Amino acid sequence: MAKRIGILTAGGDSPGLNAAIRGIGKTALDRKMSIVGFRDGFRGLMENRTMKLDHDTLASILTLGGTILGTSRDKPHKMPVGSEVMDMTEVICDNYHRHNLDALICIGGGGTQKNAYRLAQRGLNIVTLPKTIDNDVFATDVTFGFDTAMEIATEAIDRLHSTAHSHHRIIVVEIMGHNAGWLALAAGLAGGADVILLPEIPYNPKKVAEAIRMRQHRGTNFSIVAVAEGAMSVKDAKLKARLREKKAKAKQKKDEKSLKNVVEEIAKFKKQQSNSTLILSEQLEKMTGLEARMTILGHCQRGGTPSSNDRLLATLLGSGCIEYIEKEQYGIMVAVDGRGVKAVPLEDVVGRRKVVPLDHPWLQSARDVGTCLGD
Ligand code: F6P
Repeated sequence: MAKRIGILTAGGDSPGLNAAIRGIGKTALDRKMSIVGFRDGFRGLMENRTMKLDHDTLASILTLGGTILGTSRDKPHKMPVGSEVMDMTEVICDNYHRHNLDALICIGGGGTQKNAYRLAQRGLNIVTLPKTIDNDVFATDVTFGFDTAMEIATEAIDRLHSTAHSHHRIIVVEIMGHNAGWLALAAGLAGGADVILLPEIPYNPKKVAEAIRMRQHRGTNFSIVAVAEGAMSVKDAKLKARLREKKAKAKQKKDEKSLKNVVEEIAKFKKQQSNSTLILSEQLEKMTGLEARMTILGHCQRGGTPSSNDRLLATLLGSGCIEYIEKEQYGIMVAVDGRGVKAVPLEDVVGRRKVVPLDHPWLQSARDVGTCLGD
């Protein structure tokens, strides 16, 4: 019997999602399978909101940014419904069966892998694909979306260079990446940033100022500082570690009052952190005497036309996952492995994040060309 497959895209959108939908769809239709799309991630599956996927809908989407299916960050087990947050896993499982699905393909980042795994544990036939501009999904060489975002961030750094140069300014540019430094490191290195700050290497603002002053001594009165959004000063990194420890202890002791207090402290810390790039820029202005400006690239990095590399990867993963579904290999993420794909059991992916290893060649190369990493 021909298989019936559902597809959803969840989490933050990422360039290449439509190329993946097309890769899955065209391969599935070619194998006489039928496909149905669910809108807005797990929410659409819960609310039974579908999109017909046929040759017409799949035509001309390869080059489109975003996702024709829509996306959301809603989790099956913690879904806002009206004024409440409810566990909607049961409804989602029922809808999967009501649609007579043989498999569900969930395309997403780390959070989506986790949510999809929970559904696999409930007996659904799940296959996932790794997408995110952050490149932080475990067990895949790379995620699609990363290459496009890297191009966008690199181009932004190039543009900031000329204005920083003209005005003899420091420009501190904040680059996305959640708690991983891949995007800031890649774009910083490709764009020739003078300083690159990553979550993996807590920074000392004095060391950053020192590097900028060194450039001044050499007669260069401008600097580009590329900061990953998750980067932290040494002081803040220590505070974060202490708060985590406190939370773990309160949980262990089942001390509700302490847990509530520490959760509030963590929320306050996170709020402060959202300003950390601005604070760093002000500190650098004070410490160096150079005027400083801050630029947050934000969601520009996720929008627009996917690069050819991302289209290629997404197509490869999309068609590759149909091969695994044909073999009825489920509970897996289809990962990038060199020039091909491989199946990785979801339990090996979830709860782990791929961060920049401290011995990564990109870091060594950054140091070799004189980039300050804030340490
Ligand atoms: O995971 C992708 C990402 O763009 C991160 O880099 C960023 O921290 C986050 O999503 C932003 O999320 P939202 O679009 O929900 O603001």
